[in-house]
Amino acid sequence: MPLTAPQKFERKFEQQLRLLEIPKSIFERNIGRHIRSLDRKCDGLSKRIEEKIRQFERKKGIGLDDEVRFLRSWIERPLTTGAVAPSGRLLARAMARYVDPGSEGPVVELGPGTGPVTDALVKAGVAPSRLVLVEFNPAFCRILHTRYPEATLVQGDAYSLRRLLETLLLQPAAAVVSSLPLITKPLRMRMRLVRDAFDLMLPGAPFVQFTYSVASPVPLRLRGFTAEASERIWLNLPPARVWVYRKIR
Ligand SMILES: C[S@@+](CC[C@H](N)C(=O)[O-])C[C@H]1O[C@@H](n2cnc3c(N)ncnc32)[C@H](O)[C@@H]1O
Repeated sequence: MPLTAPQKFERKFEQQLRLLEIPKSIFERNIGRHIRSLDRKCDGLSKRIEEKIRQFERKKGIGLDDEVRFLRSWIERPLTTGAVAPSGRLLARAMARYVDPGSEGPVVELGPGTGPVTDALVKAGVAPSRLVLVEFNPAFCRILHTRYPEATLVQGDAYSLRRLLETLLLQPAAAVVSSLPLITKPLRMRMRLVRDAFDLMLPGAPFVQFTYSVASPVPLRLRGFTAEASERIWLNLPPARVWVYRKIR
């Protein structure tokens, strides 16, 4: 069947992205090293920027909205924050759609940030008391605590998922929804995270992950799980796609 104009456009876009990703994968390690070293050098600068912002807030008696808080976090820790702005509503909704609100058990969210995906989960019918939010950034944790007081908030490193949640979860999780910038981590860490998440869930439960990349951030050669991808969400900036991984029953 001949391709429609949007399909042709999408195919062309994907081809261009793939061309960009080949050199990216070749130099990924080197680039990562350079970014980390830049990150360290930026540390002093970002502390000064942070202090200036605080002075500005005090002087004007204002608080910053989520976009500015996010940008500030990205300036401080680009690799950990992984995006310059919170996810858009369409992307958040697309992620939440993979969680069945009628399922049983906690819903774990990794890297909720200022809470756009959390909000979409709640709007989709997941009770806030079922949410277990794992966030690294203390400033985001304070926001989440105010917005979702009924949720269980865990301030910590999601890559130590087993240690963080093993004793906290009283029953298998219904889903794990992740906005972590997985691609900035070595492959073995990503694979360990997904395996640990599968161990906390019942077989068949979804591990939901968004990415700006063309390729799946979890290698599909990992055995014992299925993977499906959503359409690219063009209206998110940058356009993103949702991947869902499920452990085979
Ligand atoms: C790309 S942002 C997504 C935030 C939000 N869910 C959204 O969609 O706008 C990634 C989030 O993951 C958090 N994060 C990054 N590494 C983490 C880690 N190892 N453990 C817990 N949270 C982490 C960051 O602080 C940030 O809030």
